[in-house]
Amino acid sequence: MNGIEITGLGKALPKTSLKNDALKQYMDTSDEWIRSRTGIESRYLCTGRESLTDLAAEASRKAIEDARIRPEEIGLLICATCTTDYMVPSVACAVQEILKIPGGVPAFDINAACSGFVYGLQLIYALMNSGTVCRSDRKYVLLIGGEQLSKMLDFSERSVSVLFGDGAAAVIVKPSKDKHFFCHTAAEGDRSALYAHTVGRNQITGLSKQGEKLVSPNPLYISEDYAREIMKDGYLKMDGRKVFRFAVRALSSEIDEMERQSGIRAEDVDYIVCHQANLRIIDYVRKQRKLPEEKFFVNLQKYGNTSGASIPLALADMKEKGLLKPGSRIFCIGFGAGLTWGGCYLEF
Ligand code: COA
Repeated sequence: MNGIEITGLGKALPKTSLKNDALKQYMDTSDEWIRSRTGIESRYLCTGRESLTDLAAEASRKAIEDARIRPEEIGLLICATCTTDYMVPSVACAVQEILKIPGGVPAFDINAACSGFVYGLQLIYALMNSGTVCRSDRKYVLLIGGEQLSKMLDFSERSVSVLFGDGAAAVIVKPSKDKHFFCHTAAEGDRSALYAHTVGRNQITGLSKQGEKLVSPNPLYISEDYAREIMKDGYLKMDGRKVFRFAVRALSSEIDEMERQSGIRAEDVDYIVCHQANLRIIDYVRKQRKLPEEKFFVNLQKYGNTSGASIPLALADMKEKGLLKPGSRIFCIGFGAGLTWGGCYLEF
């Protein structure tokens, strides 16, 4: 086995798309501020009963159809997400149930935030090469990148909440003898640059109010002082400037790494598909490296930052536009909370 190959792609988005101006009813912001600092024009957000699980299942169903395989041929399911619906089970297991993908094969989630899709591909490559998964007639992997970031958005934090959106995309991966694959992932633990605490989200919303006192359903678990202290930490917090500096560094160093591993210069690949966080991050690195605008596929205008979903959503849109042709060579670069980052070289 030499590499891996993506043979199917599917995407799913919530029904509601909100333009920048529509956010003005919730916070003091403007289309001009958001567009000039990020390039984002609108984002999809789950409403009502829509969930990550629904989006992940729909994207997966379409990817399976696109690859023209049967669910019984899937030998491994992975979902890259940092916004899981259930603490247990994983989104991957939920999708396995919904799509009736026969049991007996591994299914789990990974959380590497916005680098999750690249981490997932590296894991698949390593597991396939180990020969322990995807044996005999179940040789395909379903990899989902899906997020419902709106669950973590506090609309009173305007510098964070305008940046993110919801969505999911899935790919079918199979081992390949003739397609090359290179990958690199890395992390540098940092709990202050970009974070959301689960305690604020789950245990504290589970507290019932008795007068002014917050009472936990598990009285042994959490003190009232601590509960009050971290209540707001259940929503996404970001040091925007620190993350910006990290992102341009990570993006540039991963392009170097992919050039080194693949032996192909950035100017010679067909596209560079970066994590779609912010047009200014992409432009900064593009100008620094004197690369043409057309080299970078960008769709963040309509989705905002969808974290683990952003790279597969970009690949799905590229396929719809006919930009992924047999022989296309692509660098994918992710970076985000963790801090994590990573890159991969893919051939179509
Ligand atoms: N609408 C209007 N004004 C806003 C605003 C919004 N949504 N959000 C913040 N502002 C205001 C601030 O309050 C501040 O006002 P002040 O000067 O009166 O205090 C002003 O705009 C400037 O804010 P600042 O934080 O200095 O802007 P910036 O130029 O650093 O841009 C980010 C902020 C978040 C766009 C930028 O730091 C960034 O892109 N960071 C990386 C984010 C990212 O991509 N994260 C995910 C990576 S995976």
